Amino acid sequence: MYNFEYKNPVKILFGKGQISKLNNEISPDWKILIIYGGGSIFKNGVYAQVKKALEGYQVTEFGGIEPNPTYETCMKALDVVKKENIDFLLAVGGGSVLDGTKFIAAAALYENGDPWQILSAEEEVRVTRALPMGTVLTLPATGSEMNGNAVISRTSTQEKLSFGSPAVMPVFSILDPETVYSLPDRQVANGVVDAFVHVMEQYLTFPVNAPLQDRMAEGILLTLIEEGPKILKNRKDYNAAANFMWSATMALNGLIGQGVPQDWATHGIGHELTAFHGIDHARTLAIVLPGVMNVRRKVKEKKILQYGERIWGICEGTPDERIDKAIARTVEFFETMGTPTRLSYYGVTDSTISKIENRFALRNTLLGEQNEIDHRVTRAILADRL
Ligand code: NZQ
Ligand code: ZN
Repeated sequence: MYNFEYKNPVKILFGKGQISKLNNEISPDWKILIIYGGGSIFKNGVYAQVKKALEGYQVTEFGGIEPNPTYETCMKALDVVKKENIDFLLAVGGGSVLDGTKFIAAAALYENGDPWQILSAEEEVRVTRALPMGTVLTLPATGSEMNGNAVISRTSTQEKLSFGSPAVMPVFSILDPETVYSLPDRQVANGVVDAFVHVMEQYLTFPVNAPLQDRMAEGILLTLIEEGPKILKNRKDYNAAANFMWSATMALNGLIGQGVPQDWATHGIGHELTAFHGIDHARTLAIVLPGVMNVRRKVKEKKILQYGERIWGICEGTPDERIDKAIARTVEFFETMGTPTRLSYYGVTDSTISKIENRFALRNTLLGEQNEIDHRVTRAILADRL
């Protein structure tokens, strides 16, 4: 196992009715900006619960953070933060609202020019200060509620870039599984697939004698495979919703990735498909992961065989046959959840593959646990998924 340092200071308030405890977490002296998305929180009662819990507080609101939050919209929110002298940001929504809020929190205290540099500068900008923020999560998927990462898109340049800093880890996150009840099928599927692939990025690499991390990862995968279809079938199954929600948080709060190699090539390539075609984040992952498994089958062989055996019970055949089966079962699971796994479904052709290949060549992008996935390997992975 590798050395590691791990600290996760995010306080989690998990369960039914926890939104009512918001006022215990926020000082009444602070000026709060509630940040939300396209309005789902008005329909499912989450907004009403938040407002009730914050009665008597000084609250301003900013809505309209879009899925795949944009720099352009976040900069409008930043104007409000400055104009109203906001002390605390409260993100109420899915991963996009949370990520947008993290960027706004960092941008509010950024003093070196255009905050876009936080995401794009060639020499990494270390974000050491940000406004404090809390979250009320309404979509289990990204793990953003318990990590310091954010992914922001820029419409004008068709880019989707990420940054990470402990400074933007939420002070607290409220996870009420009842918020899942109003999710459309597609977002449930997205959440399950995103969480599943987060685990795979930290698990499907090469063995470093870390059996506890492996078994924690496998536990999350098995739970998602069991609970995902249940919640898709019956949105009001509270236990399934709770297990789904906690699995998604555990998949990307840093814990299972400590002391082990990590991949993240599926995400790196997937972000380009969102940037060029607007495909939902999780849907890009369902396309790319099987390609990564196929093209990288030799370097990942030991872990793919372990995954096949422990997750899908695949024990028979040559290593290549077992790997083929493991890929097929993964694809079948994504498709059963209602998530397409081919580029052709979205009409994406070889010309997009060339655009991504060129962009990665220009950026000298190297992805994967061995930093071996360059623009050429990326082409092979995407060509495998046409
Ligand atoms: O905008 P509203 O009206 O709220 O509707 C949203 C949105 O249309 C809707 N929704 C959310 N909660 C709902 C609901 N509808 C009904 N009932 C509810 N309870 O769902 C739609 C999608 O929301 P979004 O926040 O975009 O989805 P998700 O949570 O999947 O977030 C995706 C974003 O997170 C980034 C992705 O790249 C993408 O931009 N990621 C962030 C990560 C992180 N911070 O660690 C890691 C991930 O790998 C990912 O990259
Ligand atoms: Zn993801």
